[in-house]
Amino acid sequence: MRFWKKLSQQECSDYIDKALRENIDFSRRTSLGIPASRLDGKVFYDQASFLKDAPFLRSIVQNPNHIGCHTLSESEMFFKGTQQIERDLIEMIAVDILRAEEGGSDGYVAAGGTEANIQAVWIYRNYFIRTFNATHDEIAILASADTHYSVVKAANLLFLDLYSVPVEDSTRAIQEAELDAVVRRAQQDGKKYFIVLSNVATTMFGSIDDPDMYARCLLKYDLPFRLHLDAAFGGFIYPVVQPENNVGFRNEHVSSVTLDAHKMLQAPYGTGIFIARKGLMQHVFTKEASYVHGMDITLSGSRSGANAIAIWMILVTYGPYGWYEKLHTLLYRTQWTCRQLDEMGIVYYRHPDMNIITIRASFVPKSLVEKYGLVPDTHEGDAGWYKIVVMEHVEIEYLQQFLADLKRVPGA
Ligand SMILES: Cc1ncc(COP(=O)(O)O)c(C=O)c1O
Repeated sequence: MRFWKKLSQQECSDYIDKALRENIDFSRRTSLGIPASRLDGKVFYDQASFLKDAPFLRSIVQNPNHIGCHTLSESEMFFKGTQQIERDLIEMIAVDILRAEEGGSDGYVAAGGTEANIQAVWIYRNYFIRTFNATHDEIAILASADTHYSVVKAANLLFLDLYSVPVEDSTRAIQEAELDAVVRRAQQDGKKYFIVLSNVATTMFGSIDDPDMYARCLLKYDLPFRLHLDAAFGGFIYPVVQPENNVGFRNEHVSSVTLDAHKMLQAPYGTGIFIARKGLMQHVFTKEASYVHGMDITLSGSRSGANAIAIWMILVTYGPYGWYEKLHTLLYRTQWTCRQLDEMGIVYYRHPDMNIITIRASFVPKSLVEKYGLVPDTHEGDAGWYKIVVMEHVEIEYLQQFLADLKRVPGA
C-alpha cells in the first residue's frame, strides 16, 4: 500500500485539525465576498465539549465548501486545508484500491453513486462530441439489464439511447453472443460511439460484469468506446478481497469508476466517489462558472468538505488490513448462510467474493419478507428474487433465526 495506512485516533484528529486551521476561520478573518460561513451558532452550538473528541463533527461545524475538483487545478483558497484531505483520499483509493498510477487520476466526492455515474456518462458524451464530432443519436449507452437505474436517469438527462444487455437468469452473467447481438442492433440504429457501464456488484445480485467482454466485442467491430465501472456497492469489497481482478485502472479499457462510501463503508450519506484517468474531467468544464476559483467540472456545485473527511477517517482508522479483516468476517457470514441454504435445497445467487445473497422468491414465504426486511427485485407485481445484504449489523444470530423460520414455514 502506497498511501493507505492505519492511523491512530490522535494522528487522525491532528491531521484534520491542521487541515481545518488552514481553512478560513470565519470568526477571525473578514471575508466579505463569499456566500458561506460556519454553521449557524444559535442553532448548532459550536462550543459543546464533545466536539473536542469529534473531528468529523468539528469539520461539519466549520462547514468547508469543496466546490470544484481539487485534483485538477487550483481551487477556492478559503478551504485549501480540507481540500488536501480530499486529494489524499482520491489518490489513496485510486492507487491503493484501483491500482492507478500515482498522480494519474482525477476525482471528487459526489452526492452518491447516481451522481458519479451521471458524471461519467456526461464526460464521455462530451468527449465523443468534441473528439469525433458525434451527434447525440450516434452515441449509445451500453449496460446490463441488472444495472442500477441511475443509468436510465443518465440516458434521459443527456439525450442518449440506452441499450440493455440481457443477463442469464441463474448466473446473472452477460452472454457474449447476446452482447454481440445488442451491439449489432445498435449499429443498425446508427450508433457509432459507445459508453459502457460495467458493474462491480449489481444492486440486486452483487454480480460482477466482465469489462473485457465489452471491450472485446466493441474492438471487434472497431467501435470507439469509453468504459466506466459502477463499483458503487462492490468498490470497497471486490478489488480488496480479490487482488486478481480486471476492475481497476490496470485494465487499459477502464476510464473511470464510481464507488459509494455510504454503502459498505458506512459513511454519512453524500459520500459517492467519482475517479477518472487524468485528461477526461476537462470534457465537462463549465467555463461560465467564472466566479468560482479553479475549474467547476463536477455535476454538483457546492458540496460539503466534511464528507471527504468522513471517508478518509474511515479508511485510515481501519487501515488496509483492518478493512480486509472486516470484509472477511462479512464474507464468512455470507458463506455460512449459503451453506445452510444449500443444505435446505434453497436456490439463490451469490458471487463468491461478495456479501449479497439473492434468493429465488418461490422459496421465501411472504411473512418472512416483512419480518426480516428482505428486499425484492421489484415492488410492482410478483417478486422474482429477495436479497440479503450481509452488512455489519446482519449478525449470524439474525441469520440463524431467519434460516430457522425458513425451515419451519414452507415456501410462498
Ligand atoms: C450499483 C449501484 N450503482 C449506483 C447506485 C446509486 O447510488 P446512490 O443511491 O448513492 O445514488 C446504487 C444504489 O443502490 C447501486 O447499488
